[in-house]
Amino acid sequence: MRFHVLTLFPEAFGLSSQFSIVARAVQRGQIAIEVADIRDYTHDAHGTADDYQFGGGHGMVMKPEPVFEAAEAVLSGYDAEGGDGAGRNAIPVIFLTPQGELLTQKLVEELAAPALSGAEGAPAVVLICGHYAGADERIAEGLATRQVSIGDYVLTGGELPAMILIDAVTRLLPGVVGSPESVAGDSITTGLLQHPLYTRPAEYRGIAVPDVLLSGHHAEIERWRRRKSLERTLARRPDLLGAAPLTDDDLKYLRTLGYERDAQV
Ligand code: 6GU
Repeated sequence: MRFHVLTLFPEAFGLSSQFSIVARAVQRGQIAIEVADIRDYTHDAHGTADDYQFGGGHGMVMKPEPVFEAAEAVLSGYDAEGGDGAGRNAIPVIFLTPQGELLTQKLVEELAAPALSGAEGAPAVVLICGHYAGADERIAEGLATRQVSIGDYVLTGGELPAMILIDAVTRLLPGVVGSPESVAGDSITTGLLQHPLYTRPAEYRGIAVPDVLLSGHHAEIERWRRRKSLERTLARRPDLLGAAPLTDDDLKYLRTLGYERDAQV
């Protein structure tokens, strides 16, 4: 999978390609992160990438031309295999902006899907990092195929969101994370928050590992884990329960905790 990042701060991407599992995926050739400096596509001596907004108001706006041209330079490398025949490139062009749809595990899975399907051609994604007070709307209207936000808070730019998206997609690619089970059982992937995890020692700072985990009774352990997932999701993210796949036993247990499925979303 190839991630093309268009940014005004190319140095920032040293971070994601230099540590941990994403760095290893780069070294192994499982992903490539190619960073293009939007400023290289400006046309004046000062490398002006922003301008005042029409209609007045505080804050500078990213100009459309350098962003379009940087994206076209990347996409031109894919025209032979990436086009859909309708003049629109099949490669997702994602604009990272607080105005976007929320990045969820479902969206992450969707973005990773072309890399899992074994389809012809190296799958790729273009990520455009917004900056300043915002970007000219024509980037969203005429260039991006999707707009994505990572949450309900405002950051100074789309670089950290782009790294987060790259991280989340990369860990779903075959062979990137050691065990596929650890990916499948993740928090959120299952629709619920993950149960608590413990390792040795069995008691630490006066806090003991729950007896059931030391019991060797696999069915009991699974029941305990499921219940902890349910308790935790109800306490911290009740919004997830509406869409989570729940069994009758799950619902029965949740009702003992005061949950009514149709009463809350
Ligand atoms: Cl994608 N960009 C910025 N600037 N802020 C954000 C965001 C993106 N997602 C959440 N906050």
